[in-house]
Parts: sequence; structure tokens; C-alpha cells
Amino acid sequence: MQKMTDVSTGRSAGKFPANFVLRGDIAYSKSPEELSCREGAFLVCREGVCGGVFPRLPAEYSPFPLYDYRGKLIIPGLTDLHIHASQFGFRGLGMDMELLDWLEKRAFPEEAKFHDGGYARRAYGLFVEALRRGPGARFCVFATIHTEATLILQDLLEESGLVSMTGKLSMDRNCPEALREKSAAGALKNAEEWLDLSEKRNYRNTRPILTPRFIPSCSDELLYSLGKLAQDRGLPVQSHLSENRREIAWVRELCPGASHYAGAYRDFGLFGGEAPAIMAHCVWPEDEELALIKERGVFIAHCPQSNANVASGIAPVRRLLNLGIAVGLGTDVAGGIHSSIFRAMGDAIQASKLRKVLGPAAEGSPSGGAEEDYRPLGLEEAFWMGSAGGGALFNAGSFEEGREFDALVLDDGDLAAPFPLSVRERLERAVYLSEDRHIIGKWVRGRPLFMIMPENRFENTGE
Ligand code: GUN
Ligand code: FE
Repeated sequence: MQKMTDVSTGRSAGKFPANFVLRGDIAYSKSPEELSCREGAFLVCREGVCGGVFPRLPAEYSPFPLYDYRGKLIIPGLTDLHIHASQFGFRGLGMDMELLDWLEKRAFPEEAKFHDGGYARRAYGLFVEALRRGPGARFCVFATIHTEATLILQDLLEESGLVSMTGKLSMDRNCPEALREKSAAGALKNAEEWLDLSEKRNYRNTRPILTPRFIPSCSDELLYSLGKLAQDRGLPVQSHLSENRREIAWVRELCPGASHYAGAYRDFGLFGGEAPAIMAHCVWPEDEELALIKERGVFIAHCPQSNANVASGIAPVRRLLNLGIAVGLGTDVAGGIHSSIFRAMGDAIQASKLRKVLGPAAEGSPSGGAEEDYRPLGLEEAFWMGSAGGGALFNAGSFEEGREFDALVLDDGDLAAPFPLSVRERLERAVYLSEDRHIIGKWVRGRPLFMIMPENRFENTGE
């Protein structure tokens, strides 16, 4: 193995070239069914954008500096479509409750602490450092209702070099006093003020996203006014959809006129249209909800670990894929314990097998769906969801020419087997077994967050 030197990173990344080539064992998704795996191939970055993957380096790229990671895996940075930054501190605790009790007893009391900027800075510092070191490049992040704390989080994310859509939560009902915005009009004003303050920061990588927590936490008036704001200004929206049966029954009571949960969001103007919408979960969708999700191009964040932990169920992901719905993965920390999308990929595969074993019983209906809708997911689909599928929201997550350039170099040498492994097998191993320490280089939008520099970085070895 070639000798490596840690030359570090982050803030010194200003000196890193805008055009460069990485060489190594490259794997990425071309579609939900197809992985491209190539040994010793060349990956081109031009001004933060992928220039393509080549078995031999085309002559036009030979002047670019080449970083030779032969023997290492190179894959796209991953995308987490749903994570609660404010819940990172208590992950792995309180895992003995269902969703609504867990929210009341665990999530809300922790989130209330973020009125204190000092607490927020400490908690969000830990969160952002964990994300920086992990396999994720792009994130859809829930903060809390607090403007100051959310701006602290946005500043830290921006400084890290990661790309995110980060949202101050909106909540004006069914939550403790400390987390309740005092009126719908007040909550709208808070959201607008926060948007103005975000805009003044001139972030490059940190985009604000409207975040009504979910229908039970927001009055009709608030949902309607946020929907209008989203449509008028073309702002993205994120929330929770059809996660847990008790929650869905509650939404039915709260919105008696809506055709279903997704229909309620649509009626409020919060379900796609002028700007993207990302909805977490979709564990118990009705057929018509699925048609609406497809029609509106809404992204679904599949969060298998959270769905198990807070006893929500097993989402029909194969069915969503068969329908051509845009699905990515979410960790949903702290409903989910682990903040790595590698882990979410493995969990998605396992959950899909349980769903097959349970068959129609998993739907709670004796008739069930077509057999094809129960076919378990494989590595191809899971890796696609966690990279190119979710990454499509940001035009990233793949090495197809034209996508924004996010890459990870994994030194998987200590995951070796006593027999030869193909690049695809090494990728499969990495999904299940790799840890942050295996990541020896990470680039987002073409900038290195950290890297171990190969010795022969400027020696262009293309034949
Ligand atoms: N629904 C509303 N809020 C939350 C939350 O914080 N986590 C999860 N998993 N579901 C929610
Ligand atoms: Fe969530």
C-alpha cells in the first residue's frame, strides 16, 4: 500500500485546485437497478461538477492534478433527506416508546433547551462535527422553533463545507408552552424574520427550508400561511407524512375535510408545486396519496430505523420505487439512532425482507398488493436511494457527468476477506461494515473537507 500523509483540510481547502482527477476503484449508481463499478478508473472534477468516469484519462484532462487512490474505494457523498439536529444529543435513549409518547416525553423536552444559544452552540457543534466526519455530503435538517439557535446551526453547517437545506420549525399547537409559537400570525412572522436573517448571511451551501413540524403541531391558519409563503417565494418545504397509525388517525380528526394526509398538505399549498417538498416516512400511504406524491414530484425520505424504533411500521418502499416516486433515505435522528446513511441502506434492505415475510399482513389488510410490491430491496436500490436518489434533490449523489461533485475515498483495507473481492462486493461490505475512520477523503461541491494526501498526487499516471 502506498504511503499516505495527512495534509489536512477544511479551511486550507482554499488552495485546493478547482479542476482535478481522482483515481481509484469507483462505484456509483446509474439507476435504482444499476451500479457502475470500475477498478483503477479516473473521476474528473471540473469547477465543482462531475466531468465523468473514465477507464483511461482523456487527453484534455491530463493537465489536471491527479490524486492517485488506487486500491481504495471512491463513491459519491451520501444524502440524508431527514435528520433532526436538535435530537442528536439524545440518540439511543428513550427507545421504548411509540411516536407520540416519545415526542412528548423525549423530543419536546430536549428541543425546549434550544432557547439557550449557549446550549445550542454546544449541541449543534457536536452534531455538525459528526456529520462532517461521516459519509453524508447533503442533508435536509430540522432544527427547533428558535431563530437564534437555528442561525447558529446554519452558521456551523456553512462553516463545515457540507450542503444542507435547514429549517427553523413552525409549531403553534399541541406542544408544550415552551415550544409553542403564540399565534399563527406570530409563527408566520417568526418564519419570515428567520428567512430574512438567513438571507443576510449570504450562505453558499446552506439553504433555508420551511418546516411546519407536522399537521398536529400547526393550526390550519399557520399551515395555510406557510403554504402561501412557499408558493409565493418558491421556497422548499419539509415535514412528516403518514408515519404512524395513531398520528394518521389524529390528522384525520384534525382535517376532516381533507381526502387524506397528503391531500391536507396539498390543500394548504405545502405539497410541491413551485418548490420541492420533502416528506419523511410514508409508512401507511393510501393509493391516492401515492398518486398525488408522484404527480407533485414530492420526495419521500424513507427512514427504516426510526420506523422500527418508534414502532411506526415498515414502509412500502419497493412499491414507491415501482411507481417511480422520488425516494431517498433519512436517518431521522433521534427516532433513528445512527446518523450514517450507510446504516440506513442496510436497514432499508432488512426492513424490506421483513415486509416480504409478513406479506399483506404488513399492510394491515388481508388483500395486500401485487407480489412485485413485496420484492425485497437489494444493494442496488438501497445504495441508489442513499446516494443518487436522495441526491437528486441537490443535483448530486452520483458521478454522472453534470452532477455536483461530492466524493468519498474509503480505505477498506481492513475489511479484506481471505478471497478476492470485486469492487461491488467491497461496496456491499462498506455499506454494512465501514465506519467513519475508513473515510480518508471527503469532497463536497469539489472542495475537500478533509483528505489524506497520496504521495504521488501531481504525477499524472494516465496512460
Ligand atoms: N413527527 C413529528 N415530529 C417528529 C419527530 O421529531 N420525529 C419523528 N420521527 N416524527 C415526528
Ligand atoms: Fe422526523
